[in-house]
Amino acid sequence: MLNEILKKRNIPPLKNREEMLQILQQEIYGYIPPKPEGLSWEVQKDYIPNFCAGKATLDRVILSAQMPLGTFKFPIYVAIPTTDKKHPFFVNINFRDNIPDRYLPSEEIVDNGFAVISFCYKDVTDDNDDFTDGLAGVVYKDGKRDSTSAGKIAMWAWAAQRAMDFADTLDCLDGDFSIVCGHSRLGKTALLAAATDERFRFAFSNNSGCSGAAITRGKQGERVADICKNFPYWFCKNYYKYAQNEQKMPFDQHFLLSSIAPRYVYVASAQEDLWADPQSEFLCCVAASKAYEQLGHKGFVCDDILPHAPVCYHDGNIGYHLRGGSHYFSREDWKLFINYFNRFYKQN
Ligand code: GCU
Repeated sequence: MLNEILKKRNIPPLKNREEMLQILQQEIYGYIPPKPEGLSWEVQKDYIPNFCAGKATLDRVILSAQMPLGTFKFPIYVAIPTTDKKHPFFVNINFRDNIPDRYLPSEEIVDNGFAVISFCYKDVTDDNDDFTDGLAGVVYKDGKRDSTSAGKIAMWAWAAQRAMDFADTLDCLDGDFSIVCGHSRLGKTALLAAATDERFRFAFSNNSGCSGAAITRGKQGERVADICKNFPYWFCKNYYKYAQNEQKMPFDQHFLLSSIAPRYVYVASAQEDLWADPQSEFLCCVAASKAYEQLGHKGFVCDDILPHAPVCYHDGNIGYHLRGGSHYFSREDWKLFINYFNRFYKQN
């Protein structure tokens, strides 16, 4: 049944990872800015003393990246459980710099044994069409971009990769169990960050929808024309040509999930989030499964029916859940992802 439904969507066949990554960057997000020529940092220890009742430490770390047109600095927040072991960890791209935050239940996460490195996306570059602000200001001369230059999503993804550079230097973190995550526009960002950086072992995208984890062709709710009209600066300029012209896209969003293979990718949907379209997020998992199977892994293991909440598919390297309720990064999403993660987590 699902294959029949997908056939009607008329999505292009998968290609090899390198080709898909080129297409995704050239046609949707723009090329991720270059790695910095140098990265240094300054640690502000115990930014919040007795964090989580003393079960963790919370430092604020200012990263300084040397970029083509100057040095770019932004803060990250590093919460590490005080237990003496190597911790799996999240790199969380957040809407705000609150710690904890309504989308980031730090204490529950720490209680489950994870460290969390988070940053506020607006500390990287503003969520608007100003390409002179923040990171954009040290990448583009006078804010001018060409058709394949990074949009804002690619810049936020770059920042998640710099947080990973810092994480790589910490002995108390278990580099084999890193997760990049975010909600909505930042779920799209998390997927792109993982697709283009193999150090992320897991990607967890919550309600990422259009231009994220949802198949575009035949989608309900938001389409390329809507997103390019309302948020053109999230993407490279090439993407605009597909507004009202999606059949011409030489890709669909299953390229994004497939570029993460054989690493783990988790797609979380919400029943009432029709703008994101849970069914199209689910179908994207089905369509990406082949990339995993070709590499000898279980891809997406699900029943041959469209999902109805509540449902979880946690058996393969692609995980999925559909919960009741609306567009939100809820504690339930975190809990279900952690259940999925723990099936694959082996402590060293
Ligand atoms: C808008 C946008 C979505 C996006 C969401 C968000 O609704 O249309 O594509 O995911 O904002 O980031 O909250």
